Amino acid sequence: MTDLLHDRIALVTGSSRGIGQAAAWAMADAGADVIVHYHKFEEGALATARGVEERGRRVLIVQANLEDPEQIDRVFSRIGDAFGRLDIYMANAAATAFKPGLEMRPHHYQRTFSLIVESLLLTVQRVVPLMERSGRAGRILTVSGHGTTFTLPNYAGLGSAKGAVETWTRYWAYELGPKNITVNCLSPGVIDTDSARYYLQDRFARLEEAATRATPLRRLGRPEDVAQAAVLLASDAAGFITGQVLRVDGGISLTSGPFEEIQG
Ligand SMILES: NC(=O)c1ccc[n+]([C@@H]2O[C@H](COP(=O)([O-])OP(=O)(O)OC[C@H]3O[C@@H](n4cnc5c(N)ncnc54)[C@H](OP(=O)(O)O)[C@@H]3O)[C@@H](O)[C@H]2O)c1
Repeated sequence: MTDLLHDRIALVTGSSRGIGQAAAWAMADAGADVIVHYHKFEEGALATARGVEERGRRVLIVQANLEDPEQIDRVFSRIGDAFGRLDIYMANAAATAFKPGLEMRPHHYQRTFSLIVESLLLTVQRVVPLMERSGRAGRILTVSGHGTTFTLPNYAGLGSAKGAVETWTRYWAYELGPKNITVNCLSPGVIDTDSARYYLQDRFARLEEAATRATPLRRLGRPEDVAQAAVLLASDAAGFITGQVLRVDGGISLTSGPFEEIQG
């Protein structure tokens, strides 16, 4: 427990599970009230919310399919009504169809880009006035991943969308710096979450072993590792850091990686 985020209000999209849930709890541990967002997994969102309240912080749960601009508008109207301001925004929600490029249909690509790239544009447009109203330095955190710079099987759709997120991070940082809003990107390596297990299916155990060998810190990442980095970048201590991509990967990006070993 720290007071690094004392009295901040934080929105974490996709906080019904995995990294988003861990970030919601870490931010609450650091003193922030948290807006928990989910798409379908209401039970997960309720569990996250209970965890925030157990940490003595206020919580609001919002539901939206972030592929839909009208649902994004609805969420921000609720946040405006409930809190009237926002200090931290972590754009964490993601999903895709894991397919080879040759099998990808236009709707697969459009949905991935609409959830991950277009929603970043539309949500940040709604976040900025709420941050300006707060009067504090604003903090926007995006989430990319290992697959923007390293090739992973069936990952082109998500990897290219996350590449766009990294580029947007730099443009938003440039545009919002004069408003005292920093924008940085967390790039996790292999983190043990439901989605990593779903992506890898029966290859997860092999990946775990290979990734552990290829990681200087000799273990897979945990959601809490990314969550703690999020707290750091959201805190005053990171006030002069903007437009950067921070790898949270135990050093796996320093090696040639384990992915070739698990192809096929
Ligand atoms: N896990 C890894 O190894 C890893 C590695 C690199 C990067 N990342 C990135 O880290 C972030 C979190 O990853 P994770 O593994 O924790 O993800 P996850 O467990 O799959 O959770 C994804 C979250 O996104 C939400 N979501 C999915 N589709 C949505 C939609 N259409 N509209 C709104 N919300 C939607 C889900 O909501 P519901 O639960 O309500 O459906 C869930 O809360 C993602 O951006 C991911 O790309 C993860």
